[in-house]
Amino acid sequence: MPTDTHPGPLRVLVFGAALRADSTNARLAALVARLISDTGATVDLAPMRDFDMPLYDGDMETTEGLPQGALALRDRLDQSDAFVISSPEYNASVPGVLKNAIDWVSRIRPQPFKTKHAMLVSASPSLIGGNRGLWTLRIPLEHLGTRVYPDMFSLANSYQAFAEDGTLTDLGLQQRLTETVTGFLSLVEADMRYVCLERRWYEFLGDRTEAAITQRAEA
Ligand SMILES: Cc1cc2nc3c(=O)[nH]c(=O)nc-3n(C[C@H](O)[C@H](O)[C@H](O)COP(=O)(O)O)c2cc1C
Repeated sequence: MPTDTHPGPLRVLVFGAALRADSTNARLAALVARLISDTGATVDLAPMRDFDMPLYDGDMETTEGLPQGALALRDRLDQSDAFVISSPEYNASVPGVLKNAIDWVSRIRPQPFKTKHAMLVSASPSLIGGNRGLWTLRIPLEHLGTRVYPDMFSLANSYQAFAEDGTLTDLGLQQRLTETVTGFLSLVEADMRYVCLERRWYEFLGDRTEAAITQRAEA
């Protein structure tokens, strides 16, 4: 495999977007981190507490600049090729803590979310597993230029879903999560290694005809 654009293994930032100590999204983030690490990629598993920041305030931005938590998230994004967020769903949408973090970081130039790959997962005690929140989370990220992986994973009944070793008790779900993670990493790997497909790879993700892909790559 050519190594012309990236010298080492993929680097992936993973974080759960809830602050509480017993967060099931933090647990799901830890499981995803383990699955990524198993593939040989480098994982940076971050607690959301590492990115503590005040509510966005334009006056504060003018007088004090960016808060430390936003700069910390920017630094960790900059050191990664891709990121995974495990986010709760609050009132069928993105939790304020996460949206606030995205808003602050989006003020930084160069804009850190642009051109990064992202995978979204969620955990919730409900039967929907927080999936509605992920659809709303796609909007700011895609707006900012993040390449959000089409497949998402939402864990229902999350308070009962984990075994003691941190895996999912439902083996079918564990398998599905593993496949989603490996599919995501394959896409990131392809984009990192084969720069001739940059951008066009994403744009024509659904196009399976080789001729069309070759044509675009040569354009
Ligand atoms: C303000 C608030 C709103 C919530 N809204 C939803 C919701 O719309 N859908 C849902 O499935 N769970 C909702 N929940 C429940 C969360 O899914 C639950 O608290 C979950 O444990 C949060 O994730 P965590 O375990 O990572 O903290 C809500 C919780 C809070 C505090």
